[in-house]
Amino acid sequence: MTSPVTVGLGTRAYEVVVGRGLIDRAGARIGPFLRRPLVAVVMDQTVRDLHGARLIRALEASGVAGHTVVVEPGEAAKSFAGLESLCDRLLELGLERGDLIVAFGGGVVGDLAGFAAAIYKRGIDFIQIPTTLLAQIDSSVGGKTAIDTPRGKNLIGAFHQPRLVLADLGVLDTLPAREMACGYAEVLKTGLLGDGAFFDWLEANAPRVLAREPEALARAVERCVEMKAEIVARDERECGARALLNLGHTFAHAVEAESGYGEALKHGEAVGLGCAMAFRLSARLGLCPSADAERAVRAVAAGGLPTRLDEIAGHPFGATALVARMAGDKKARDGALTLILAHRIGGAFVAPDVDRHTVRDFLIFEGAPP
Ligand code: NAD
Ligand code: GLY
Repeated sequence: MTSPVTVGLGTRAYEVVVGRGLIDRAGARIGPFLRRPLVAVVMDQTVRDLHGARLIRALEASGVAGHTVVVEPGEAAKSFAGLESLCDRLLELGLERGDLIVAFGGGVVGDLAGFAAAIYKRGIDFIQIPTTLLAQIDSSVGGKTAIDTPRGKNLIGAFHQPRLVLADLGVLDTLPAREMACGYAEVLKTGLLGDGAFFDWLEANAPRVLAREPEALARAVERCVEMKAEIVARDERECGARALLNLGHTFAHAVEAESGYGEALKHGEAVGLGCAMAFRLSARLGLCPSADAERAVRAVAAGGLPTRLDEIAGHPFGATALVARMAGDKKARDGALTLILAHRIGGAFVAPDVDRHTVRDFLIFEGAPP
């Protein structure tokens, strides 16, 4: 295990520990943050069945009572109904403001439990123990918490930083291959947006990361966590640099919304497609060499991820409809599109005010009907 990464946020700074066997030692790690020897551990049914008993045992071994709160697996849990039911359960447990919630799961549980922690009794502490690759390298770090509404994803939420993140790489052994690929999309995104050398390494080592070879997996997770921690410390509230983490996401959210947020297209797959599209658009606009765009697209495909709209069930998605979705993005200002584009691999930048017609033409060029 390497040294923990610190997310440098002054008095709210916290450590992200990446390693193996962390779940078995969770009680000792979490103990110093507790006022009373009890925590509420939020997990979905799948994670409870696979890993729940191990975590609760580890807490008990340190004299901490872990009260399990189970939520439905899947994005639907990130709803007002899911939040209400979680908060009700926390109230029933008698959780006090000085107590702590543990979010044990993927990005869904992290976002939901984190948002509940942000508002429960006007805010209590929480700790992230992420169990998907996506959650370990992205969603557990940085304090974005949210639920969805029928009008869109992550529209209701809060910035609420965890007190500690424990990313136990061993827990990824049970993750289905498709979920690994989804997390890998965000790993690639990290290299594409800001670290060309890391991208070079990923080009050579994608199969090892996806096969969960311990050394390769550790290097990928650690590098992504380091970069995310550094960006969040610079721009917690996404006033500047943090927006770069949205590379590929404006295209991704539009395609996800058009495809109906179903099993046909998972978020990570949409991010892979979105990164490929962002690089192709950058090359088309003369902002980035075509050779870099081709490399980016090849790397997305090598991760087992889609790179073209016609690979997505439900296509054709209309260009006008996609642009309308993109204009509803949280980054949009006065109806103009803000996109993350690239000058090169490892060199993404925020492009405010991208003309909608330019994007529509590009989508038609990509095979979308008008
Ligand atoms: P998820 O939480 O739904 O997990 C995916 C699936 O894997 C679920 O069925 C879950 O039960 C299962 N699972 C989790 N851990 C497992 C394990 N170790 N073994 C076997 N199965 C396991 O999805 P996700 O991809 O982790 O997260 C997606 C969510 O994260 C989205 O809601 C997205 O909006 C959010 N997100 C948030 C941020 C942020 O900064 N807050 C960043 C990126 C994504
Ligand atoms: N996942 C993007 C962010 O945390 O800002």
